[in-house]
This record gives sequence, C-alpha cells and structure tokens, in this order.
Amino acid sequence: MSHLFQSKNIGKVSLKNSIIMAPMCMYKSDNSGKINTFHKYHYASKALGGVGLIIVEATAIEPRGRISSNDLGLWNDDQIMAHKELNKDCHFFGTKMGIQLAHAGRKCTVKDLTPIAPSAIAFSDEKSFKKPLEMTLEDIQNTKKLFLDMAVRAQKANYDVVELHAAHGYLLCEFLSPLTNKRDDIYGGSIENRCRLVLEIAKELKEKVDLPLIVRISASEWMKEGWNNQDSIYLSKKLEELGVDAIHVSSGGNQANPDKALELKPLYQSDFAKEIKEAISIPVIAVGLITTAKQGEFLLENSYCDFVAYGREFLRNPNLVFQLAKDLDEKKEINASYQRAF
Ligand SMILES: Cc1cc2nc3c(=O)[nH]c(=O)nc-3n(C[C@H](O)[C@H](O)[C@H](O)COP(=O)(O)O)c2cc1C
Repeated sequence: MSHLFQSKNIGKVSLKNSIIMAPMCMYKSDNSGKINTFHKYHYASKALGGVGLIIVEATAIEPRGRISSNDLGLWNDDQIMAHKELNKDCHFFGTKMGIQLAHAGRKCTVKDLTPIAPSAIAFSDEKSFKKPLEMTLEDIQNTKKLFLDMAVRAQKANYDVVELHAAHGYLLCEFLSPLTNKRDDIYGGSIENRCRLVLEIAKELKEKVDLPLIVRISASEWMKEGWNNQDSIYLSKKLEELGVDAIHVSSGGNQANPDKALELKPLYQSDFAKEIKEAISIPVIAVGLITTAKQGEFLLENSYCDFVAYGREFLRNPNLVFQLAKDLDEKKEINASYQRAF
C-alpha cells in the first residue's frame, strides 16, 4: 500500500489515511465569529473528498485574538452549535475533525480593538498593524484560561483533535521569539522563559481536555538572530514530555521583512520537519508547497514526517484525495460511489 493511504493515529484518534487538510483562514464569518453556510460546504466538500483529518482554520479564543473581523471564533457557548453541525456532516464521511485554537496577538487588525502581545512592538509600520499593549501577568493567566475554555468548547462541539497555533507570528509565536518577546519576567529572556507560556498551555490542555493535541510551530522565523530550528527541537522535546500528540512544522510569519530571502519552492519547509522528527518520537506533520502524491510519498517514505498536510492544493481541488488515490492506484480508498470515475 502507498504511504499516504495508510491509516495512522494522532494520539488515540485513528485517521483513515495520512492526508491532512492544513488550517486556512477563509475570512468568511461576520463579527459574530460564527460558522455559516460557506464554512459548512467548504469543509464538508473536503470530507466528502476523503481527507483523513481536517484542521479547521485559526479560530479565535477571544474577539481581540482575531486577525480580522471575519475570522471564526469559539469564545462563547453560542458559537458551539454550528461547529457541532459541521462535525456531524464531516464525520458522516469518515473524516476526523480538528480545530486550531488561535490568538492573533499583535497581528490583530480588527477595527476598534487594541492588540496584545508579549512586548509593545508593532508587526510593521502599516496602519492596519497597531502597536500592541504589553501583556501583564494577569493578561497571561487570563489568556491561558481562554485557550483552555475554547478547547473545552471544541470538545463539546465533537472535535476529535485540537491544534494549538504557535506559528506564523501570532501570539504564542511572538512569545517564543527573542525578537518579539523582550519581557524581563518569567515569560521572557531565556529560551526556557520564552517557551513557558506555550508549555503551560499545552500542559493544561493535556491535563484537562481529553483530546489529542497538535502544536503548530514556525520552525524558523528566517532571521539571523531569531527563533530557529534548534529552538524548535528544544520546544518539541519539551512538548513531547508533556504528552503532546504531534508537532506540525511550518515556518515564518513573525517578521514583516525576514533577513533570509525565502525561496518558495516545493517542500521548502520539509527539512525542518525531518530534523524535528529525528529528535522526537511523536508524529510530525510536514506542510508547505506539497502538492502531489509523489511528493507526499517521498516525504513519508524517507521519514521526513508521519503525516502530510496539503493547504492551497485543497482550495484548487476539493477532490485532491481522489487525485492522490488515482496517482497511487488506490481505487478502493475512494468512496465507492465515485469509483466508476477512477
Ligand atoms: C488562505 C490561507 C489561509 C491560511 N490560514 C492559516 C491558518 O488559519 N492557520 C495556520 O496555521 N496557517 C494558515 N495558513 C498556512 C497554511 O496552513 C499552510 O501552512 C500554507 O499555505 C503552506 O501550505 P501549502 O503550500 O500546501 O498551501 C493559511 C494559508 C493560506 C493560503
């Protein structure tokens, strides 16, 4: 059998194949943060297509944790029901459902809201990125609670997995980086201190919410003096010790003008995933310009990762899994009703 179509577990949850739909903000909600018809069809179409796990886009733990006023949110109980319906539909097709627990930090551009961040440093000079307020210790404790509360709601909505968003320059990523975290308390300074918030949240989620936990990180922020993959290996090992179930390896997003010109070529982030995988025993998810069956097979066969996440390719082709199955001659993995089109 091909590697992509092998069933595998993330924690206690079994995926029917090793193909994941990466979280992608659709900016299609309204100021309520609620799921609507767009999201239902958008995600259910990929479930019908046969993907193993959908990770629903960055979903905010509080209103000022949104990137825009069109982001999804799961900060109150009224928002649960539509997620529950979405999960019912997607589960019908045998797809497991995850949701990304997110806080935008200094990248919140919602009008009339002031962003918060580890330090009062704006993301860029652009008017849309306001200077954030430096979080107090009380803000930090409150944020931890909001992550936990959202995970509890995710469980009530019947999600199978939660993903903590600690990548791309959003709040938790800002804490990790020495360039965006200039704090002089226990949450800033040394790498131990900068990792403290992510580790404290992961610990609480593992202790109090009975769902597998993925943590998504930016392996490197593409800066000479910034967060790098050695730091990511350090963090991944600590997360593994806490019982985290998988690491999802992305990169970048914390700097408006990174030092190192990023060459956006196929598999451009996969070497980071491989180095992390060599250092830990929990599953690793690779992502980033992976678009074909051949590339996915290459990564799995050569132990770069345990799961392959496809992002934009799913936007181009909701039937991507059908295409992958066709390329790998895996007819029986496709919904029986569609097999005559094989
Ligand atoms: C429209 C769009 C929205 C995205 N939103 C998110 C998001 O909500 N959370 C996240 O962690 N990454 C987000 N990403 C990054 C993707 O998850 C993925 O890592 C990236 O697109 C690279 O994978 P790809 O080349 O397969 O698209 C987004 C990317 C796109 C294109």
